[in-house]
Amino acid sequence: KFSSLSILPPDALLGLMAAYKSDPRETKYDLSVGVYRDSNGVTPVMSAVKNAELRYLNDQTTKVYEGPRGNADFCDSIENVILGDNSLVREEGRTLSFTTPGGCGALYVGMNLMSRLGISKIWVSSPTWPNHINIAKSSGFDVGEYRYASSETGGVDREAMFEDFSQIKKGDGVIIQGPCHNPTGMDLSVDDWRALGQLSKDVGFAVMLDIAYHGLGEGLDEDMEGVRAFIEAADDVMIAYSCSKNFGLYRERVGCFLAICEEASSVASVSSQVADVSRAAWSMPPAHGAAIVATILSNNGLREIWEAELSQMRGRIQGLRQELSEKLVLKTGNETFQHLTTQKGMFSQLPFDAEATHHLREAYGVYMPASGRVNIAGLDSKEIEHISDYLARVFIE
Ligand code: LMR
Repeated sequence: KFSSLSILPPDALLGLMAAYKSDPRETKYDLSVGVYRDSNGVTPVMSAVKNAELRYLNDQTTKVYEGPRGNADFCDSIENVILGDNSLVREEGRTLSFTTPGGCGALYVGMNLMSRLGISKIWVSSPTWPNHINIAKSSGFDVGEYRYASSETGGVDREAMFEDFSQIKKGDGVIIQGPCHNPTGMDLSVDDWRALGQLSKDVGFAVMLDIAYHGLGEGLDEDMEGVRAFIEAADDVMIAYSCSKNFGLYRERVGCFLAICEEASSVASVSSQVADVSRAAWSMPPAHGAAIVATILSNNGLREIWEAELSQMRGRIQGLRQELSEKLVLKTGNETFQHLTTQKGMFSQLPFDAEATHHLREAYGVYMPASGRVNIAGLDSKEIEHISDYLARVFIE
C-alpha cells in the first residue's frame, strides 16, 4: 500500500538547491551544487559542444538503439583520454568500456559488479560525495570510511589513510576519487596512487576509481598521472567516468564505465556482466551526449577548442581560489584559508559546521551544504568581496 510509505527528507544538496531557488531575497549566493559558472554567472554550453551538436544533428540519420555498449567511438575515446596514447593495457586487449547515463550510472554498474563478485562492504573516503554512500546503501552494501582529509595541512592525511587501508580486507570494495576530490579538493600524490594500487593487488580488495573532474585540476594528462600509476601497480580496476563537468554536459547524463582486467581472457566475461547489469537498469544508454563527446574527441579542430575552453575554466577556478584565499586570510587573520590555493578542482571544504552554514544562509543568503563545502567554480569575482566578508564574520564569531 502506498499509504504505508513515509515521506523522506529531500536529498540534502537537492533540497538546498530548491531552497536557494525559492529564497525571495534579491542578494543571495549559491555555493552549493557543483556546476561551473563563467564571469557572468552563467554555466555556458561550451562552444566545442555547440559545434559538435550542430554537426551531429545535421549528420544524424536515425534514432535507432546503439546497443548495450552505447557509442563505441565515445567509449574508445574515453579509454584514450584516461589511459593515454600507447597504453599498454589497451594494446594487450585488457580493457572494456560502456556508455552510461552519467558518472552515477557508471558507479551503479561498478557497485553491481562488486556485488556479483561477492563483495558486501564498500569503503569510501571520509568525507566523500554523499551520493557514493547513497548508491552503496541502496545497492545493499555496508559502508566503511577511511580517513582522508587533514584540516591542519589542507591536504591528504596519508598516515591516517594508510592506517585505515590496512584494515580493508580481501573481498572488500573501495572507492577512490580521482583528481579534484569532492568535497575537499585534496588530491593524492602519484606515489600515494602507486602505493594504493600495489596494496589493492597485495591484499585483494576491489577498487573503483571515480573520475568526475578530469582536466579541472592541472591538465588532462597531468590529472591522469596518478590514475595511470595506480593501474600499472594494481590488477583488476574499475573506473566510473563523468563528462558532466569537463564537457559541461550535466543534464545530458554522459558517463562511461571502464574496466581494466589483469587477464585479457576476463574481458569477455566482465563485458557480459556489465551488459547484463545495464540491460536490467536502463536497457540501452542515452546517445546524444556521448555522440557529442565522441565528435569532439575524434576531430582535431574541435578537440583543440575543447581543450582550450577546459584550460580556461581551470585557470578561472585557480584564479578564484587565489582571490578567495587572499581575502579570507586578510579578513580572518587565519592562515588556514591559504590551503584553498593548493587544493584542486571545483570544491573545497571550509571550516564551517551545520550551525555555521545555517547561520550563513539565514543571515546572509550564502548557500552551502552543512559540510561547509563550497563550489569555488560557481563563485563570481564581483561577489567575492561580500561573500568573504560574511564568511569571515561567521568564522570569527
Ligand atoms: C555536486 O557534488 O555538487 C555534483 O556532483 C552534483 C550532484 O549531483 O551532487
